[in-house]
Amino acid sequence: MTKQIQQTMQELAAEIARHDELYHAKDAPEISDAEYDLLRRRYEKLAKDYPQYAVAGTLHKVGAAPVAGFRKIAHVVPMLSLGNAFDDEDVMDFVQRMRRFLNLPDDAQIPSVAEPKLDGLSLSLRYERGEFIYAVTRGDGAIGEDVTANARTIKDIPQKLSGHPPDVLEVRGEIFMHRDDFQRLNDVQTEAGRPAFANPRNAAAGSMRQLDPMITATRPLRFAAYTWGEVSAPLAPTLWEARAKLQSFGFQLNAPVALCETEKDLLEFYQKFLAARADLPFDIDGVVYKVNDLVLQNQLGFVARAPRWAIAHKFPAEQALTRLNAITIQVGRTGALTPVAELEPINVGGVMVSRATLHNEDEIERKDARAGDMVWVQRAGDVIPQILGFKDDGHHAVRAKFVFPDHCPVCGAAAVRPEGEAVRRCTNGLACPAQALEHLRHFVSRGAADIAGLGERTLAEFYELGWVRTPVDIFQIEKHQDELLQREGWKEKSVSNLLLAIERARQMPMARFIYALGIRQIGDTTAKLLARHFSSWESFYAAMQSDEAEAELIAMDGVGASMAKDLLAFFTEPHNQKVLRALTQEIQIQPEGPSQTSGVLSGKTVVFTGTLPTLSRDAAKAMAERAGAKVASSVSAKTDFVVAGEDAGSKLKKAAELGVKVLSEEGFTEILNQG
Ligand code: IVH
Repeated sequence: MTKQIQQTMQELAAEIARHDELYHAKDAPEISDAEYDLLRRRYEKLAKDYPQYAVAGTLHKVGAAPVAGFRKIAHVVPMLSLGNAFDDEDVMDFVQRMRRFLNLPDDAQIPSVAEPKLDGLSLSLRYERGEFIYAVTRGDGAIGEDVTANARTIKDIPQKLSGHPPDVLEVRGEIFMHRDDFQRLNDVQTEAGRPAFANPRNAAAGSMRQLDPMITATRPLRFAAYTWGEVSAPLAPTLWEARAKLQSFGFQLNAPVALCETEKDLLEFYQKFLAARADLPFDIDGVVYKVNDLVLQNQLGFVARAPRWAIAHKFPAEQALTRLNAITIQVGRTGALTPVAELEPINVGGVMVSRATLHNEDEIERKDARAGDMVWVQRAGDVIPQILGFKDDGHHAVRAKFVFPDHCPVCGAAAVRPEGEAVRRCTNGLACPAQALEHLRHFVSRGAADIAGLGERTLAEFYELGWVRTPVDIFQIEKHQDELLQREGWKEKSVSNLLLAIERARQMPMARFIYALGIRQIGDTTAKLLARHFSSWESFYAAMQSDEAEAELIAMDGVGASMAKDLLAFFTEPHNQKVLRALTQEIQIQPEGPSQTSGVLSGKTVVFTGTLPTLSRDAAKAMAERAGAKVASSVSAKTDFVVAGEDAGSKLKKAAELGVKVLSEEGFTEILNQG
């Protein structure tokens, strides 16, 4: 019996260690936080009864050892974790423990601050005399990773503090991502053929631990402060006031929060939060209670891995069992075929769920859920509910295994899955209705054809009416002019404005045209490269049809094999060829003129920062490029000019340090006009 217990404990410890590693070092957890907590609790319970079998380090580890690649920085004040409460009783016990420790009577109240427990990555920011010095991750609590360069790209992290901060101030808080930002990021990731992130937490952690800060800069990261490490002078007598101080220094705080007098208030806050959870723009996995009085906090101190003055009241796991009615296939705007579980509607943590994602083909294979099975649904940190697996009711084996279609369910074209990729896609490009509207949206967007009068709603309206199905139809919209005038919301003026905007778009620079086509992986940078390389649309189009196309593309700096493949797939697709032929009848594609070779800006490197008074960033960039300048995104010794507008931040500072010439918008346009 005891032998068995010992073995169980060893297995649990190994399992916990494995999940610690997956979560902290790899940002790729395999189980939900709730499942992890369950493992920990099972182990903790056994360890309490059988301390002789405890596996060293299992309960005291916070996070995982830092990964290689970043410089290590030791925390002056260790970054600890929080104990967990899973129900009201645990919260009562927590308060009672503090009373005992402080020798207070059983009815004494300890005013505490209730805060959301953000689900992200904790970070410590060091400031000296108000200047940002470095940013460190928690790591193992004692030593973390130096992610300063990445932190500098996050707008919530001030480079310089306002007000009167203490000489030394370490601000601690959470790096996290809003759900809608996460969704958009994942769209971009999948579009570029990169794997999507599992949830906002992983996306935030993965983005923060990029070795290239330029990548971090493109990620929608936020920072919310909630505590501090080393300080050279106390911030305030209470947490509540200290928070206000942090805010006055320029930090965003985690919110909403409440100052609670009694345990009842804490639990009320928890219930309120639990109900509002789904409506918050970000993921939280519970509520944190912290003693407000900082003197009391100090007296209470710490136990092994957590403060005695704080606790995390975790939200219940949002999982439920329901019937899987069917598996259907959705075709996304990039043509990706996504399997969707159609469920018997069920309440999961306060939200009715009738559909869940099954991610992709391999996932279905792995989970082997079949129509008719009872399945576990989870609405954990994720935006889209997931299927965890099935619970066999004895009939699983006789139910039909799902066969993933090899044709697009929307248009019937072949759907292929390139080797090494997880996603199967419809090959019908512009002709598949599921993709057409999205393609059209992209076509008219800024940076592409830029037809301002054709907003999303108008486009959808025209699509529904059957007036616009391909970009070609946009240029023939005057055919419907009379009908359009009859429609609600349209007047002579708005119709003529729309037609005017479309007329203007008939002159399109080649790079914009290539970008507007919405070819997978071909963003505006690559479109520019291609335009410069091939100079005219005719020579580009001809080259794409030639046998040497692939070799020529790959030989270009900045074009990889996978991009070349997507380009060729696009240009050899008969439907696309037809649309392109018709489109080039409507549009004059301006060849990429050689950039200016004389003039003050020719061959110079320019960096833009801040908001310019009249020019959009795109317009200013284009002007600089036309004048023969290279536009870079960060300031270095190679930078010739920094053009700064309002709210210019670290780039301006860097320019000053390096002695780079700084121009206002006016100065910039003056130089341009000099030719
Ligand atoms: S206080 C010594 N407050 O939860 C106190 N942590 O489980 C340490 N977290 O590492 C942290 N929201 O990443 C604190 N309002 C909050 C929090 C919070 C999220 C995270 C943080 C911490 C972990 C502890």
